[in-house]
Amino acid sequence: MPPTLAQRLQEIAAILTRAGIDDPRREATLLLGHFLDLSPTELLLRGDEKIPAPAGLATAVERRAKREPLAYILGKTDFYDITLQVSPAVLVPRPETELLVEETLARIANDRPSRWLDAGTGSGAIGIVLARQRPQTTVIGIDASMAALKVAAGNQQRLTGHLRLLAADGRHLPFASHCFDGIVANLPYVAAADLIGLAPEVRDFEPRSALDGGPRGVELYLACLPEFHRVLRPGGHLLFEIGADQADIFRHHLTPAAGFEQAEIVRDYAGLPRIVRCRRCA
Ligand SMILES: C[S@@+](CC[C@H](N)C(=O)[O-])C[C@H]1O[C@@H](n2cnc3c(N)ncnc32)[C@H](O)[C@@H]1O
Repeated sequence: MPPTLAQRLQEIAAILTRAGIDDPRREATLLLGHFLDLSPTELLLRGDEKIPAPAGLATAVERRAKREPLAYILGKTDFYDITLQVSPAVLVPRPETELLVEETLARIANDRPSRWLDAGTGSGAIGIVLARQRPQTTVIGIDASMAALKVAAGNQQRLTGHLRLLAADGRHLPFASHCFDGIVANLPYVAAADLIGLAPEVRDFEPRSALDGGPRGVELYLACLPEFHRVLRPGGHLLFEIGADQADIFRHHLTPAAGFEQAEIVRDYAGLPRIVRCRRCA
């Protein structure tokens, strides 16, 4: 006799608890719900039903117990108002990055065309949301990883955003000078030595090329700043996500002498410095 849905949920949660997963009950619900195509509420309401184990569930639970990110196992994750397909070729978009999206949207005009760059687009998360929310804006997403761009292209087609995608390195942009009204970037910013201390989900499964920002974590951004300055129009906006301990370094670099002004640090919902926003000097 197969166990009830409630018992199965409990079994999965117990396995995930032993594996050290933070919110085992929630993840067990997501996993079981995914394989049975049932919402968390439906799972709860049908807790007494006895249903044979769905194919693939045991393997998925085993993968999660080995700390593979849930998003890679399910092949998708929610971000802002969309669901993105993800694979180990891309960083799993983080809830913190939704703040970067909000800050960026607040700076893109709703009533006239403009041109924005999403540098390090990964799954296309930021660029797709911008393109959907601001249909008059031309958004171009670049990434140095061809594998990531393939994932972004799938998302772009499915979600019907108008994101244009291009393989390019943020340090050598293939664009004319002054051609963008704004740049948003979530490039790698983890200090190389800190990678080892990250959660197993990140350290062992997410692409290192999406995390490693150089010895102090800030080097890649600093190397991109001259190109960002070149391709921005005078007065253009630059916003990018940073590590909590990097605010002072960027404040120090984003000065009128470097061609940037109005540099401000935005804190996230946990009160940590998370976003730098500034403008190219007019
Ligand atoms: C932290 S992930 C962010 C992905 C996505 N924007 C997001 O917020 O979920 C950084 C992305 O930058 C890309 N990247 C790394 N170095 C780069 C470079 N020099 N130029 C352009 N993209 C780069 C990586 O391949 C990766 O997709």
